Amino acid sequence: MVLLLIIIPGRNYIDESIELAKKIGAEVLNVKYKVFPDGEKYVRIENSEKIMGKPVIISNTMYPSQNDSFIETLMLINASIKANASRIVAYIPYLAYSRQDKVFLTGEPVSAEIVLKTLYYTGIDCLITIDIHSEQVLKELNKCFYNIQVFDILFNNVKHLVNDPIVIAPDKGALNRAKYLADKFSLQYDYLVKERDRVTGEITIQTREIDIRNRDIVIVDDIISTGGTIAEASRKLIEKGARRVIVCASHGLLIGSAIDNIKKAGVLKIVLANTLGIRFQDPFIEYVDVSERIAKILLEVLK
Ligand code: R5P
Repeated sequence: MVLLLIIIPGRNYIDESIELAKKIGAEVLNVKYKVFPDGEKYVRIENSEKIMGKPVIISNTMYPSQNDSFIETLMLINASIKANASRIVAYIPYLAYSRQDKVFLTGEPVSAEIVLKTLYYTGIDCLITIDIHSEQVLKELNKCFYNIQVFDILFNNVKHLVNDPIVIAPDKGALNRAKYLADKFSLQYDYLVKERDRVTGEITIQTREIDIRNRDIVIVDDIISTGGTIAEASRKLIEKGARRVIVCASHGLLIGSAIDNIKKAGVLKIVLANTLGIRFQDPFIEYVDVSERIAKILLEVLK
């Protein structure tokens, strides 16, 4: 079967999409896009006649420029339908707005639901993503999806830095992530108790009973945004006697002074998956290519 991988050039995920295309033997179609004088977006898939009757993978990620990449992705889905694609699979490693996954304060929307419903409504048959903040929103839609975990790939790259570490989730919501990694490497795991003020965003973190004195720690989380969670968790763990702390996270947004704050908190290394359209040049941060795993899933979905 000849696959077509449509890539969105520009801000977000070109190199990664080309890499993925090589791994699955897919053809990459270029996309031209522009902005109208009033600010509206325009996309056009080049050589779109090749799409007719073929399955298409739209590969894009939603950070940075969440809103732009969202509308561009929708436009590419629609353009693929108009070009008579037989099936459309969206590979979107980072789904923007996924953290607003419930109504925390009255009057709020469930933004994650809006993003997902719109993707399916526009016409995708299946969604492949990496470590969505809460899988529950996806499950409730009852559509084809693959939510891929990559913590084992990340940890494999840095496991020489630590000795028999305990895997720690910075909050109970991330416990399944800690369990995933711990089970793969037969490690102990636990979580911390995190509370966030829903108005100010301020967090407090408490450790639990587990004895971490002189133990190495791997903190796992889906997203590092301001770095507040990781910095606070690391500080608390080191205060309680932890020896070395490393961090494995799926999506490293690392806004503002996040990197410095995490360094100051005593973290040895951050390992991130290559899920975003940004890359920080700092030896403290290691990026790991996870395209091998995604390629396998894509081939399975499109069988
Ligand atoms: C929240 O529940 C998420 O899993 C992350 O812990 C959070 O988004 C991290 O944000 P920040 O880096 O701003 O503390």
